[in-house]
Amino acid sequence: MASYEQIFDNNRKWVAEMTAKDANFFEKLARDQNPDYLYIGCSDSRVPANEIMGLEPGDVFVHRNVANLVNNTDLNVMSVINYAVKHLSVKHIIVCGHYNCGGVKAAMMPKDMGLLNPWLRTIRDVYRMHYDELDAIKDEHKRYSRLVELNVLEQATNVIKTASVQQCYLQNKYPIVHGWVFDLHTGILIDLNINFEKILKEIQKIYDLTGGMAAPSE
Ligand code: CO
Repeated sequence: MASYEQIFDNNRKWVAEMTAKDANFFEKLARDQNPDYLYIGCSDSRVPANEIMGLEPGDVFVHRNVANLVNNTDLNVMSVINYAVKHLSVKHIIVCGHYNCGGVKAAMMPKDMGLLNPWLRTIRDVYRMHYDELDAIKDEHKRYSRLVELNVLEQATNVIKTASVQQCYLQNKYPIVHGWVFDLHTGILIDLNINFEKILKEIQKIYDLTGGMAAPSE
């Protein structure tokens, strides 16, 4: 029970600290949110979104699930993206994976994981899509790390497949979609430098959902 009670002590200290820095902090916080970023990351307790980015409450809209997946039929992540793009007008969408991801590790094991099977299937599909590259990596840990990166790439691509992102980008030149990996050993965030424009162009050969929309004239 001690640690549970501790949380409320921590909270009171945090309120005091924030108020000492800015007397109107909570008044401003309650007014509205206007974040520039949507962060889609892993639920892993070691990867806290705001802390690793050094951002304050109000700065980033966050969605987390096991292995930072962006599934087309997941009403949760789809609603988060739609809301962040259409109502919050976020300028950047970040898909952030992390090395040593338990979800990715589980997907690499040839094993029935029960209820987790359909969730892990998405990661196994990423493995299949990049089989030749991954199979050529003999070191298992390096292969695992590369799958973490490729999973980020594919989930970022899934974000770009959505109608809200394609339509908003056509009209406003934002949001830009990014792929990052967090390294637990060093605390460093690595930008995979995915080529947003190139991926958008490529996927729109098949997934173009801007049909009939005109870009605004310059
Ligand atoms: Co993870």
